[in-house]
Amino acid sequence: MKLLVIYFAVLLGCLGLATVGSKSFLATSCWCWSSNQGVVALKKQPPPSQEYVSFGSYGSEVDWNNPERVIPLGYEQAQGKRIFYEQCVWCHADSTPAGPSNRSNVTPTPPLMNDGTIFNAESDAALRKMIALGGRETGKSAMMPPYGKSLSTEDIGDLIAYMRVIAAPEYHKPASRKFKWKWGGKSS
Ligand code: HEC
Repeated sequence: MKLLVIYFAVLLGCLGLATVGSKSFLATSCWCWSSNQGVVALKKQPPPSQEYVSFGSYGSEVDWNNPERVIPLGYEQAQGKRIFYEQCVWCHADSTPAGPSNRSNVTPTPPLMNDGTIFNAESDAALRKMIALGGRETGKSAMMPPYGKSLSTEDIGDLIAYMRVIAAPEYHKPASRKFKWKWGGKSS
């Protein structure tokens, strides 16, 4: 019986100490949850993200003309997107991850990379030539740089895949072309 009384006394004492302690200097030296945890957690929150998200994340692209539409990208298209935002965005888009683009300062004004009214009419081969050789070698403006030395054949294929999937109006692969290749016909 005596032992039980002592036990409860000690227990009560501990509880009392804990209550007082949590509001006193003891709290600061306590290893446990501190009373101002919430404030500390708030202070440690990371700064607002500077990441560029307006064109969607890796593996998808937001339609440049319709922010509500997200275009899923396959592997090649996603690689093309990466290269586009590294190399071409400065001239072939109006805004870039680093702010406004240079497009409005370039003469002639480079077409937007999603401009289907221009690119849909051009074959993959013609685009490939343009990107590899640049404007000077293809009878267009020398403002379009040649990328044949800095990008691989694969890179350029990825870029074209990306251009095709973001095109507005939508790009449709010409059916006649496949026919020609299949039967060994000459392509122009
Ligand atoms: C320094 C600015 C600049 C950069 C960077 C640039 N281009 Fe261009 N590009 C131009 C200009 C200017 C034209 C228009 C040439 C003309 O119409 O005479 C053009 C035209 C093109 C065309 C042909 C358009 C047509 O009318 O057929 C393609 C394709 C193209 N660029 C792809 C690319 C790709 C892909 C990249 C990145 C690897 C790139 N460009 C980077 C300036 C640039």
